[in-house]
Amino acid sequence: MKYVRLGNTGTLVSVIALGTMTFGERNSWKLGGVPVEEASKMVNRAYDAGVNLFDTADVYDGGRAEEILGESVKPFRDEVILATKVRGKTGTGINDQGLSRYHITRAIKESLRRLDTDRVDLYQFHGWDSITPIEESIDVMQDMIDEGLVIYPGISNFSAWQMAITQSLALNKGYSRYVSAQMNYSLLNRDIEHEVLPFLSYAEMSLLVWSPLQGGLLSGKYTDLNSPPKGTRLGDTGRVFPYFEKDQYPAILEKINTISAEQGVTAAQISLAWLINRGSIVLIGARTLEQLEDNLNAVNVKLTPEQVKELEEVSAQREMYPNWMIKNQNYRNMTN
Ligand SMILES: NC(=O)c1ccc[n+]([C@@H]2O[C@H](COP(=O)([O-])OP(=O)(O)OC[C@H]3O[C@@H](n4cnc5c(N)ncnc54)[C@H](OP(=O)(O)O)[C@@H]3O)[C@@H](O)[C@H]2O)c1
Repeated sequence: MKYVRLGNTGTLVSVIALGTMTFGERNSWKLGGVPVEEASKMVNRAYDAGVNLFDTADVYDGGRAEEILGESVKPFRDEVILATKVRGKTGTGINDQGLSRYHITRAIKESLRRLDTDRVDLYQFHGWDSITPIEESIDVMQDMIDEGLVIYPGISNFSAWQMAITQSLALNKGYSRYVSAQMNYSLLNRDIEHEVLPFLSYAEMSLLVWSPLQGGLLSGKYTDLNSPPKGTRLGDTGRVFPYFEKDQYPAILEKINTISAEQGVTAAQISLAWLINRGSIVLIGARTLEQLEDNLNAVNVKLTPEQVKELEEVSAQREMYPNWMIKNQNYRNMTN
């Protein structure tokens, strides 16, 4: 396993982290329904492979994923970084959601109870809340840090301007720095390269990638997206998520398959290796132990510069304005 700093902190985290969205017998989102025994084996296997970052959320299988993760990591709780999230709908009440002080204050208690722990190591806003002033959310986050309930604050699914004001306000108030952003990123969706990645680099924040295989599509197992087999995410949910440009899919997949044959590894490993190669921490998801094993091995894949170039050419997106104009205007080079 390889380890990198979490944001600009002194805490080291594995470049492969385990996501738990497939955990939970209720299988409420039809993403896997992995029962506790199997999930525990996955957590143990990941830990044995050197994974020390485990991600969940209060909304995964109605909180069951947090319970399963908490139970599974118990023997090595203090050797791992437990990450969870708040914002999604956790109940039927009108205030059982969002980033208000009222909701977060209750949500952290529930997450701690389900995880059966005294602290959340990385507590992430699961998305922007358009009605709660961000000042209210960062104030309560800091209170939880001061109380020892949270170690590091993080965010997820924010746009770059939302990240920028969150971080600036926090730093101006003398609060803890937000250490990470959890975002969708893959060879099928490179949107965050336009604005988010430059900001993360500027702010010294880590990128935690969610759905790095774009829900399994980049494992190369689907031959026809219109008739996916049962027992797969696409077959069971009937929904392509996260979104991507379908036109690009065949060419990207063909390139991944060519490179996986060259390397003698799987398509999933090539897709994950590309992300790791770019400095991401990837949150792998798995329905089975075999998939987990496959994905863990991505850390050993070394893409050649030529292979990286080919993958990036075939998956390239149009450069957005004003980025191309900023480059045009960047005439001040140091070698003049
Ligand atoms: N912050 C957010 O808003 C957000 C959103 C989504 C996810 N997340 C986090 O990101 C984690 C990973 O997301 P994800 O589960 O969507 O990741 P993903 O890697 O894009 O998709 C995982 C799914 O792909 C299939 N798969 C995985 N490895 C495979 C392999 N080697 N060969 C064939 N199929 C394979 C499995 O589905 P099937 O076998 O069922 O087809 C598996 O459940 C989550 O657990 C969660 O922690 C966060």
